[in-house]
Amino acid sequence: MKLADALNVDDLRRMARRRLPKILYDCIESGTEGEQLLTRNERSFDRYRLMPRYGLDVSARDAGTELFGRRWGQPFGLAPTGFAGLFRRGADGMLARAAARADIPYVLSGASVADLEDVVAQAPAHVWYHLYAAKDVRISEDIVRRARDAGVQHLVVTVDNPVFPKRERDMRNGFALPLKLRPSILAEMLLHPAWILEYLRAGGLPTMGVWQRYAPAGATPAEVGAFFRTQSPAIQTWRELAHLRSLWPGKFLIKGVQHPDDALRAVECGFDGIIVSNHGGKVFDALPSPLETLPAVRAAVPRGIPVMMDSGVRRGTDILVARALGADFVFVGRATLYGVVAGGEAGADRAVALLADEVHRALAMIGCPRAADLDGRFLFTDSQVGSRPATPPGPTPGS
Ligand SMILES: Cc1cc2nc3c(=O)[nH]c(=O)nc-3n(C[C@H](O)[C@H](O)[C@H](O)COP(=O)(O)O)c2cc1C
Repeated sequence: MKLADALNVDDLRRMARRRLPKILYDCIESGTEGEQLLTRNERSFDRYRLMPRYGLDVSARDAGTELFGRRWGQPFGLAPTGFAGLFRRGADGMLARAAARADIPYVLSGASVADLEDVVAQAPAHVWYHLYAAKDVRISEDIVRRARDAGVQHLVVTVDNPVFPKRERDMRNGFALPLKLRPSILAEMLLHPAWILEYLRAGGLPTMGVWQRYAPAGATPAEVGAFFRTQSPAIQTWRELAHLRSLWPGKFLIKGVQHPDDALRAVECGFDGIIVSNHGGKVFDALPSPLETLPAVRAAVPRGIPVMMDSGVRRGTDILVARALGADFVFVGRATLYGVVAGGEAGADRAVALLADEVHRALAMIGCPRAADLDGRFLFTDSQVGSRPATPPGPTPGS
């Protein structure tokens, strides 16, 4: 299948699966324990339909969205996905440049194999940095300093993995860094020549650029990875989080919060935005889906503090549903990762373009030409079946 033939995110997912050895594709797809949450995340959107309104001029549509004093091209941005460069060499730079072209933010993962300074230089106005706090606070402090010196726009800290997740699928596959080339894994890899050639041509396992300087001198890429594992996950209490917050002069977001009390605590600590997330189902299978907890978090947090969400977004309509439920902004993780794995930079562009097109199409269908005007009145749920739906702004009988 060619990129131009990919009509939706799921097509890109299938293309990515064909390109990657199973052990790596599973690493993107995997959840934890029984992997119920992956389905729950995606299914949570099905509980909401979008109510159509017709008879309006929707020829000009505006998906632009205000966030942190700036207007972004779309109501969505790209969530941090660690080790993207292992799935496709240079993926972080490709995703950052694709985000810049669409005028949306790209959050570079703290577990990336790219260099923070290098990726920021490729898209200076669009890169945010996601911090995986280190057990050694001096490392976290230094990374925050580097992010500031590099000109990172905003910082994000993830709090939803106090312990390393139990990813049974990856464990069963024998996924470890460096990849241990057991005969079964080697055979699988040889069936995916595009990936293995790229991997070998680039010299094998890539180094975690940001972490390299903190590992012992002369550490191999595998040793840098092992060093990262000794530092992360780090237990972060509100005291440590408040300390991190104090180091960063700009906007600082907290990711992974689901309880309204935690969201409020984060605001008290000085965080400027909340990303309601369950890490795309990759940390703990018993968690609620963010779409289920979003409304309560939105209700608890003062209006001026943006509440965002991710996990399970595969369609433009999912983005609008989340917005209508109160999300100020939405992030996608796997959707654009599939794109970049499937087709490099053009694939990243394709993923963003497919989602953006679906957003525009849906805005027209519901008679809401401005994404900024979306609210709960555009939603239709099971509880409304057979009764009069809410009336969003639009044509009223006799007008
Ligand atoms: C392969 C992969 C790596 C990820 N790495 C990180 C990470 O380093 N830090 C983080 O906060 N979230 C990470 N996430 C979670 C994403 O930021 C995001 O929360 C999640 O992908 C959203 O769900 P979705 O994939 O269903 O869109 C990762 C997700 C995937 C799929």
